Amino acid sequence: MEVTAVQGDITRQQVDAVVNAANHRMRGGGGVDGAIHRAGGRAILDDCIRRFPDGLATGDAGWTTAGDLPAAWVIHVVGPNRHAGQTDRGLLLSCYSRALEVADELGARIVAFPLVSAGVYGWPKDDAIAAPLEVFRSAMTAVEEARLVAFDAPTYELIREALG
Ligand code: AR6
Repeated sequence: MEVTAVQGDITRQQVDAVVNAANHRMRGGGGVDGAIHRAGGRAILDDCIRRFPDGLATGDAGWTTAGDLPAAWVIHVVGPNRHAGQTDRGLLLSCYSRALEVADELGARIVAFPLVSAGVYGWPKDDAIAAPLEVFRSAMTAVEEARLVAFDAPTYELIREALG
């Protein structure tokens, strides 16, 4: 699997699936979650309500339609919230490995990822970058490209450095 990095808005990515940094209720929110629901339209929320009446556990992943986004699917993951005392790094790794499993179920070949937990949920940026790279490098998956999307230039540079 090729691991790539781009700077930009994840909602604009021409990919098969976009990963959303959701919360366990899966009814929308701020950050990437807000941007994805705004850009994708009501169909995403309707699908979340229909397919995930009880929400999603921290560290897990599940898919919905991508509504009006260029992608075909949104793969929602719930990262650990450090501000709520969730410091288990395994939960962050699990978000990425479960997202790849769901991508494989869907047959998605190009998948765009945000830095899960790196915003509202307060995970340190350097480890929020190291964690997905760790998972991507050892993953057994049919996904051909995992694209890390950085919102701002400094974060993009950090990802580029980590990619080496
Ligand atoms: N495209 C790419 N990256 C983005 C975008 C975007 N449009 N918007 C923000 N980022 P966050 P979390 C970056 O807070 O920490 C929500 O309210 C951002 O700069 O979106 O997992 C949910 O509903 C940061 O680096 O996700 C949850 O309640 C990264 O994406 C909670 O926030 C993740 O920041 C989840 O918090």
